[in-house]
Amino acid sequence: MSGVVDEIKARIDIVDLVTESVKLRKSGKSYTGFCPFHSNSRTPAFAVFPDSGTWRCFGQCNEGGDIFKFVMKKEGWDFAQALQYLAQRAGVELEAQTPEKEAEDQQEAHLRTLLEDAVIFYRHQLMQTPAGQPALEYLQKRGLTPETMETFGLGYAPGGWEALTSYFLGKGYSPKDLLEAGMASERQSGEGIHDRFRNRIMFPIRDAMGRMAGFGGRILDPNDVPKFLNSPQTPLFDKGRLLYGLDAARKAIRAADQAVIVEGYLDVIVLHQCGFNNAVSPMGTALTEDQLRNLKKLTRRLVLALDADAAGQKATLRGLEIAREAMDHSAEAAFDARGLLRYETRLQADLRVTTIPDGMDPDEVALRDPQEWRTIVEAAQPIVLHVLNTLISGRNIDDPKVKSEIVAQVLPLIEDVPDVVEREDLRQRLARALRLDERALTGVSSVPRGSRPPRGSRGTEGRSSRPAIASASAMSAAHDALPRSLEAHCLSLLVYQPDLLYSMDRVLQNMGLSRVTPADYEYTDHQLIMRLVNQALEQDELEPAQFIRENIPLDLKDLVESINVSYAELTQEKILEDLYRTLLMLRQIRVKEGLSQMHLIQRDLQDQPDIDQTPYLQLVTQYTQTLFKINKALGQAVLQLD
Ligand code: UTP
Ligand code: MN
Repeated sequence: MSGVVDEIKARIDIVDLVTESVKLRKSGKSYTGFCPFHSNSRTPAFAVFPDSGTWRCFGQCNEGGDIFKFVMKKEGWDFAQALQYLAQRAGVELEAQTPEKEAEDQQEAHLRTLLEDAVIFYRHQLMQTPAGQPALEYLQKRGLTPETMETFGLGYAPGGWEALTSYFLGKGYSPKDLLEAGMASERQSGEGIHDRFRNRIMFPIRDAMGRMAGFGGRILDPNDVPKFLNSPQTPLFDKGRLLYGLDAARKAIRAADQAVIVEGYLDVIVLHQCGFNNAVSPMGTALTEDQLRNLKKLTRRLVLALDADAAGQKATLRGLEIAREAMDHSAEAAFDARGLLRYETRLQADLRVTTIPDGMDPDEVALRDPQEWRTIVEAAQPIVLHVLNTLISGRNIDDPKVKSEIVAQVLPLIEDVPDVVEREDLRQRLARALRLDERALTGVSSVPRGSRPPRGSRGTEGRSSRPAIASASAMSAAHDALPRSLEAHCLSLLVYQPDLLYSMDRVLQNMGLSRVTPADYEYTDHQLIMRLVNQALEQDELEPAQFIRENIPLDLKDLVESINVSYAELTQEKILEDLYRTLLMLRQIRVKEGLSQMHLIQRDLQDQPDIDQTPYLQLVTQYTQTLFKINKALGQAVLQLD
């Protein structure tokens, strides 16, 4: 690898590269200019040293590096992206190409060209044909200017079944190309292909580097379904990783040091048109950690602009995640406050939530009054406060029942806030908002929970003596090791033999327990691998195990490769039983943790007679039932499977 890096450095002149975005003046052996990474137009504190191929800002940033660091910082890319970009610019091949890899790369480039051609095709249909007229009028009615439509490459997919297909086949693309690019589908009869997108407004979707990845297509005819049809999962299009608008928003996000996350394509587009260029959106899925991670390269300050309903009630009865995972899969929350808080902690981001006035979408607000949109974004609140305020609004907080319900929902969120001072502050706000004695809430803060991220700052809480804290955290570290290794063991079995999952799910469901999901895993790397297992089973191009080997991200390779080969000697039944048992043990630990937390909360509230304990009792009942099922299943494990 380092060979390639050196080769690229040798071929690219740092002064050339930097000059594209910074005006440089020669001074002696180096060049100086105004730093592009902080605002200052008085002191030219930015220097480039051609001899060493490095740069440095001697001003506010006090940072420096080579061409890679420069491109990463400027574009908000990670190393891999910068490497790809600079390699291409330098004309350097990235890997010793195997013939297969080379063919793959070529096909990928070919598919991207196809998608670029499709943008042009759809655009022509929209702007230049009578068939596109209604779509054009619709977009105008939604407030879009011609420039905006051009910037975002909006287009129209004609009705009928083969407008695009026949045109592209005529251009020399093959049916296989069209299928692989996600632009055509196989006919039901099994013979031939037809257009995937018909009579839809087309939104090109690009990756963070601006390369074509796929399309979103919105209906024109209100009777058509689904309302939005996206490209299928292809090698180029991964919905859970891409964010719509990110390529266009990147610069603005960095400049504003803030990203605004909205829910729809048109919201992104209209916000950009109104000058709010830092807006992006996921594509019909909940935010993933991948997406947040990508944004975090540009800013740590993220504002979620959510529909009034999503942000409200759905966020509430979350109790503990484990409870939901172990018991109920149908209730998929759109706004997962606890999940987002975890991300926030893990990514060290500042996640805020804002609500849009009743029944409106961001695009409508921004078009009606840009200032109003600005105010809404500025008023965004930290997640916990947001949930608290939503829960309180319109409720009678003098009712002890209401009080205790809200405490039960908000307190676990506060417990997840890593910063002691902030946590204390939130607790006070909660107490004040509910007119409670704060001491009623503080007692709960010392609950040790294995699954909680370690907190270096715990020692400053000062209610217990130092040695006690040290041993408590040592205990919790040891406690954490078990679930982690159980998780890893489950995964190693699934990676070894992915189709075990089917049998597993059947057996679990027979016991009244929920199927295996990524949420069974608390560690991000494990969740990613579990997702890969699911993907492996969904595709049918490769053997699932091989699919996993070929698609495992570099940084997770070790985990997968450390798999115990002695599995090969075990029978199918033994492996399945091992998996079953391990997963049940894992769930058992998690549910017990939940139970003990509930008990501690109850105990702390015992001398608060005005607080109704019903909600806690209900949760305790749920946990207990699940625990009962798990124990029963564990008892039967051998009998059932042998
Ligand atoms: P909405 O239904 O809220 O649409 O879905 P919208 O963007 O506000 O559209 P307009 O204003 O009616 O034109 C929000 C987002 O969820 C995804 C799309 O990305 C959409 O922009 N979505 C929605 C889908 O992927 N599939 C669907 O069937 C619906
Ligand atoms: Mn909308």
